[in-house]
Amino acid sequence: MLRVRNLRAGYGSLDVIKGVSFHVAAGEIVALIGANGAGKTSLLRALVGLLPPAGGRVWIGHRDTTALPPWQAISTGTVLIPEGRQLFADMSVMDNLILGGFHNPDRDLQIAEMLERFPRLRERSRQLAGTLSGGEQQMLALARGLVSRPSLLLLDEPSLGLAPLIVQEVFETIRGLKDLGVTVLMVEQNAIGALRIADRGYVLETGEITLEGDSADLLANPEVKRAYLGKGYREVWE
Ligand SMILES: Nc1ncnc2c1ncn2[C@@H]1O[C@H](COP(=O)(O)OP(=O)(O)OP(=O)(O)O)[C@@H](O)[C@H]1O
Ligand SMILES: [Mg+2]
Repeated sequence: MLRVRNLRAGYGSLDVIKGVSFHVAAGEIVALIGANGAGKTSLLRALVGLLPPAGGRVWIGHRDTTALPPWQAISTGTVLIPEGRQLFADMSVMDNLILGGFHNPDRDLQIAEMLERFPRLRERSRQLAGTLSGGEQQMLALARGLVSRPSLLLLDEPSLGLAPLIVQEVFETIRGLKDLGVTVLMVEQNAIGALRIADRGYVLETGEITLEGDSADLLANPEVKRAYLGKGYREVWE
């Protein structure tokens, strides 16, 4: 579904993504974990052309999408749900969903499906998005992204800024997306939460992939434990 070979990207002369290779198979949930500043957001931006790659190749499906401008990402069936959700705060839940399906002729059907999947959004469909709780906002960001029926969903730190119990709910919701047949690449600092629901994972450190494997193996890996456990989530997940 997604194949990335030796991708490089950065800002000016500074390389932030330093030759990264990985893949996500159709139907998989893959977690890319890394600390603050590792380059997670930059990597996702490079995948959809928001940060033009300096080298390497990206394929989405059978298509080489390396040089595609960002507004064409939608034509590859890819949706990026950005860090911090970036909802239209002064618009209602429903209007956010309508904008999410702007390009989709089946929009009304998809919105109805999302309201079924996220009953709390249905109850709050007229509420302004900016007044939702953090967890509800993340659900709306997911639902808004799904209304366009993507085949590849890129999630930038869906758990960011949420209380531990809500984090768990958001991760369970993401795992539940499997039944929609959507393929998920999720970047996260919350390694445990992300790896618990992912099939496979990669560790990104200062722009390079240093470890990869099945989620269970990474969770048991002493290096991952040393670097990412004990960040306050442990008690929730263990
Ligand atoms: N627009 C920019 N201009 C210059 N440098 C940038 C820009 N955006 C990010 N960087 C730098 O690139 C590096 C990687 O940043 P990035 O936001 O990709 O990391 P991240 O892994 O998403 O971090 P976080 O977990 O804090 O979101 C950082 O050193 C950051 O300062
Ligand atoms: Mg980031």
